[in-house]
Amino acid sequence: MNEKRIHFIGGGQMAEAIIRALITNNKVSTKELSVSEINEVRCQYIRETYGVKSQLETETGLSKADLIIVAIRPQDDLNSVGKLIRDFSISGAVIVSIVAGVTLQQLALAIGDQYPIVRVIPNTLTDTGKGYSGVSLNEHATKDQVHDFLTGFGKVFYLDETLIDVFTGFGVAGPNYVYYFIESLADAGVLAGLSRELAWEVALENVTGSVMMLRNSGRHPRQLLDINNSAGGVGIHALHELNQSDFAAGLQRSVLAAVKRTKELGEGV
Ligand SMILES: NC(=O)c1ccc[n+]([C@@H]2O[C@H](COP(=O)([O-])OP(=O)(O)OC[C@H]3O[C@@H](n4cnc5c(N)ncnc54)[C@H](OP(=O)(O)O)[C@@H]3O)[C@@H](O)[C@H]2O)c1
Repeated sequence: MNEKRIHFIGGGQMAEAIIRALITNNKVSTKELSVSEINEVRCQYIRETYGVKSQLETETGLSKADLIIVAIRPQDDLNSVGKLIRDFSISGAVIVSIVAGVTLQQLALAIGDQYPIVRVIPNTLTDTGKGYSGVSLNEHATKDQVHDFLTGFGKVFYLDETLIDVFTGFGVAGPNYVYYFIESLADAGVLAGLSRELAWEVALENVTGSVMMLRNSGRHPRQLLDINNSAGGVGIHALHELNQSDFAAGLQRSVLAAVKRTKELGEGV
């Protein structure tokens, strides 16, 4: 990534996950990063763990930053953060907000409508480089300004902001569905008589391998199911039972509930 000064306002869990991925992936050097954080214990932790400049005051970091990452919670004081950005940021600085539920319009109201502002719903698979973050830009921002940064902690989908809540409930919450599926599958193996260790290892390998089969073959899941399910055999009996459960509809309702909750939380901001 071209050398850029990146300043985080808020050094909590998500900021830390992003910083860790950026450093691990050699996207930035620690000297390009700084953090302002109102919690002294977190400040010290970020400094000692990552060697990143981290302090209580925000002004110094802002006055050098090309990218300003707003990583506070929705209930924190965004208006005060906006004022600090107006007072201390350099010309051309790009604002990236990861604050859940806060729209580009609300960000422009708090910070100023002349700024390039980018709203990001970060993925939580930052350590793997695999998850997709959802990203919307305001009219002053361009993908070039943030793409290198965003791909430092995963993959990126640029979306119309109207899709951000759907993306959050489906995509960013996505690992939760998969974790729960894997746990349930491993439990099924234990229920059937395998040791926990064996069931766990086989469940993980089957999920990894199945994703590779889908990706490598380019086939639809139904085509692979047809290959695996011989007449009157084991696979079709298992599917018959699953079809009588609420498996697909239950999963789909769960995603819709996550999207609905995302919208509710946004309305409460
Ligand atoms: N964690 C996730 O998986 C995830 C995923 C997607 C999006 N997000 C979003 O990312 C944002 C951060 O989430 P998080 O999980 O990292 O929360 P967090 O761990 O609570 O981090 C927020 C940090 O910001 C500090 N802070 C609050 N106001 C500040 C200010 N004015 N200046 C400097 N520091 C300030 C807080 O300090 P105090 O605790 O002392 O108040 C806290 O340490 C949220 O908006 C969240 O919705 C999180």
